[in-house]
Amino acid sequence: MKKYSIPRLVKTKGKRKLVCLTAYDVFSATMIQESSVDMILVGDTLGHVIQGRQSTLPVTLEHIIYHADIVVRNAPDRLVIADMPFGSFGVSTEETVRHCVHVMKESGAGAVKMEGTDASILESIAQLNRIGVPVMGHLGFRPQSVNVYGYKIDGKTDDDANRLIEEAQALAEAGVFAMVLECVIEEVAQKITESVPVLTIGIGSGRYTDGQVLVFHDILGMTQGRLPSFVRQYANLSEVAQQAIENWAEDVRNSQYPSDQEIYQVK
Ligand code: KIV
Repeated sequence: MKKYSIPRLVKTKGKRKLVCLTAYDVFSATMIQESSVDMILVGDTLGHVIQGRQSTLPVTLEHIIYHADIVVRNAPDRLVIADMPFGSFGVSTEETVRHCVHVMKESGAGAVKMEGTDASILESIAQLNRIGVPVMGHLGFRPQSVNVYGYKIDGKTDDDANRLIEEAQALAEAGVFAMVLECVIEEVAQKITESVPVLTIGIGSGRYTDGQVLVFHDILGMTQGRLPSFVRQYANLSEVAQQAIENWAEDVRNSQYPSDQEIYQVK
């Protein structure tokens, strides 16, 4: 697949569905580089799937830069979007812009993502656009604000639906090229998709967004515990890996490993 171009990706709106998957390391990046997936999100979900934390809040700028740098080098033809972690944006426009530029410079990511539509965030998005940093927004359920709003499906009431549509329009006017819609009622996600000229990438938001994103570890069965109902698991790599580990352990115990071919000998 050819190297990405954000304007070219945006032009696909309404013509074909875009596919986005998270990645954090050499394995996930290489798999995606060899696939037809359009975009990679180095999400702060790395707090869960890589660091084993209960929330995404402890993820730092340094963590995102570390993982985004690995992904960019191993998926050079894909648009890599670096997720701005909790507390790294929204305090002031100046600080947000400085942190986003730092992430782009240090990791080589092609864009950044920020949750929310606070006035300071909208101002930062416009400023970032002026200086060459493409931004993806994030509406609906926002994991970084879980302590304020809890876990909820957004857009259930008319008020919530109208607020979401207004927020999406504000993001588009500020200059995002795309926005993630997380856990938004399908009908509302569809209205948003039809009312903004930029890409909507859904996760748990139904069928009518411009594209879909899921977590790499979730679709491949590399996580433990219950998955959200919108996740479709396409493989069970945990089971395969567990079995492989047990097979090797058994071979070691039975002196079946190493074999003649697996040792160094003087000829
Ligand atoms: O952090 C992340 O991986 C995300 C996606 C799940 C949308 O924000």
